[in-house]
Amino acid sequence: MSLAGSSLVSIDDLSNGEIEALFSVADEMSDSLNDQSGVCQGKIMASLFFEPSTRTRLSFEAAMLRLGGRIISAVEVGATSLAKGESLADMARVVGSYADIIVIRHPWEGAARVVADYAGVPVINAGDGGHEHPTQALCDLYTLKKERRNIEGLKIALFGDLRYGRAVHSLTYALARFGAVILFPPSPGLEMPEHVLRKLTTEYKGKLIRLEAVNQKVKKGFFPLDAIYVTPSSPHQLTMLPDIPDIGVQIGLEIETLKKHGIDTWLHYDLSEGDYQIKLKKAGVDTLYVMRLQKERHAPAEEGQELKKDYPVVDKKLLKGKEFKKTIVMHPLPRVDELAYELDADPRSMYFKQAARGVPVRMALMALLLGTREIAISKEADSSVQKVDYPIYDRDSGVRCSNSNCVSNQETETRYIRPEFKIVSLSPLTLRCLYCEHEVHPQYIASSEWHQGMLATKKYHSADSHWIRKIKPENLIIFDSKSEAGAHGFKPSSYITAHRKGR
Ligand code: NCD
Repeated sequence: MSLAGSSLVSIDDLSNGEIEALFSVADEMSDSLNDQSGVCQGKIMASLFFEPSTRTRLSFEAAMLRLGGRIISAVEVGATSLAKGESLADMARVVGSYADIIVIRHPWEGAARVVADYAGVPVINAGDGGHEHPTQALCDLYTLKKERRNIEGLKIALFGDLRYGRAVHSLTYALARFGAVILFPPSPGLEMPEHVLRKLTTEYKGKLIRLEAVNQKVKKGFFPLDAIYVTPSSPHQLTMLPDIPDIGVQIGLEIETLKKHGIDTWLHYDLSEGDYQIKLKKAGVDTLYVMRLQKERHAPAEEGQELKKDYPVVDKKLLKGKEFKKTIVMHPLPRVDELAYELDADPRSMYFKQAARGVPVRMALMALLLGTREIAISKEADSSVQKVDYPIYDRDSGVRCSNSNCVSNQETETRYIRPEFKIVSLSPLTLRCLYCEHEVHPQYIASSEWHQGMLATKKYHSADSHWIRKIKPENLIIFDSKSEAGAHGFKPSSYITAHRKGR
C-alpha cells in the first residue's frame, strides 16, 4: 500500500497500520539523519506558516533539507496575495504548481482541507486554528511508543486547554484508536469540545464515563476527574448503561463498567455520602500531557479582565505522589506558566525529546507522501480502525456552520465553498461540519418529494418530530430557522411543536 500523493489533514487520514509503518521509517531516519540527502533530491516543499511557529516550521524545513530537498516559504498572510482578498483555493492551485508538497499552518479551522482539495499535490496540516495538528500527534505517539512501547492500556491524563488545543484533539483521536485509557481532570471552561467527545464514542466506539455531576471536593491523595474514556479494545465487552436519573445508582453502574475494564485495579472510589472521588493506586498514571492556555483563540478579554487561569501547574509538588513515580510528562511546547522549569532536569520530562523527534517523524512522513519511500502496512494493526460512513448533507438550504472561525464562513471563501455536513445523529438532529467538525443542531426539516403532490404539501416540520425518520436521507432538506424554510417556499406543518419560537 502506498501513501504517495495523499494529504494529511486529520490524524484520521492515516490508519493505525500506516502510523506504525511511518514510525519504522522514522526509526531508520533517526539512526542516520545525515545519510538521507538522496531521498527527496530535487523536491520542493512550500512552507506556508500564517501563524507563529518555531518547532513545527523549523522541524519541517530541517526535515526537507535533510532529505535533500529545497524549500520555498511564506510566513505572513500580509506578505501574500491573501491580504489582497485572494481565496485559499486560488493560492493552493498556484503554490501547488510551484512545489511538490505543501505544509500549511493557518488560523482558520478547515483551511488545510481546502488547500488539500485544490493544490493537486500532497498537503500537510501543520495546525488549522483550534481544529487539528496531526503531525504534533505523530511526534507525541512516537515518543509514547519509544518510552512506553505499547500504547494500548496506557493511562494518559490530559491537562490544560483542551478546548482550543488542536494538538490535543488530534492526539486524543489517536490515543483512542490505539486503545489508551484517557483521563480528563477538571479544567473549567477549557474542557474538551463536545464534538471531540462525541467522536470518541461514535467513531472509536469506546465508552466515555462522565463524572462531573458529582461533588468533587478534592481530598488529599485523590485525583479529581471529570471523565474517563475507555476503549473497546479492553478485554471485556462494553456494558451499555441505562439512562438512570439517580446519580448514586448511575455512579454505581459506572464503577461496575470500570471494573469490567479492569480499571478498578488502579482506582479506588470513595462513595460515602454521595461524595465520589477517585484515588489512583500504586500503578498510577502513565503520562501527563500538558497544554498551555491557547490565549490567541479565546474571545478577547474585557478591558482590565485577564483570562482566567484555572488549571493546575504541573510541577515537582504535583509529581511527588506515589501515583506519579513512573509518570512521563509531555507537552507540545511552547509552555507559559502551566509547566514548571524545575522539571526540566527530571528524567520523567519528555517535552524536549518530543520536539527533537519532530525531525525524523516529519522526514518519514514527507518521504511517504512524496512516494520516495514505500512501506508495508501491517493488516493486524489496521483492524482496530472503524470508519463510520455518515450521510452527507450539502443542499443549499441556508444551514451554515456555527463556528465563526470555520473556513466555510470566511468572506473570501464563501464565493466557492458550499457548507457541507455529515449527519451524525437524527435524534437530536446533529450535523458535523466537514471542514471544522463543529456541530450544529438545526430545528426544521422538510422533504424534497413535496412536488409529487400539490403545493400545499410543501410543508416543513420540527426536526424532533417523527418526520425525521420518515423522510428518506436523500430527500431530507434541513433548515436553521422558520424564516429560512419560508424563504424556500415551505409552510409550517402541524408538526411544529408549540414551544419552538421562530428565529
Ligand atoms: C502547538 C500548536 O501550535 O498547536 N505547538 C506546536 O506545534 N508544537 C501547541 C501550542 O501552541 O500550544
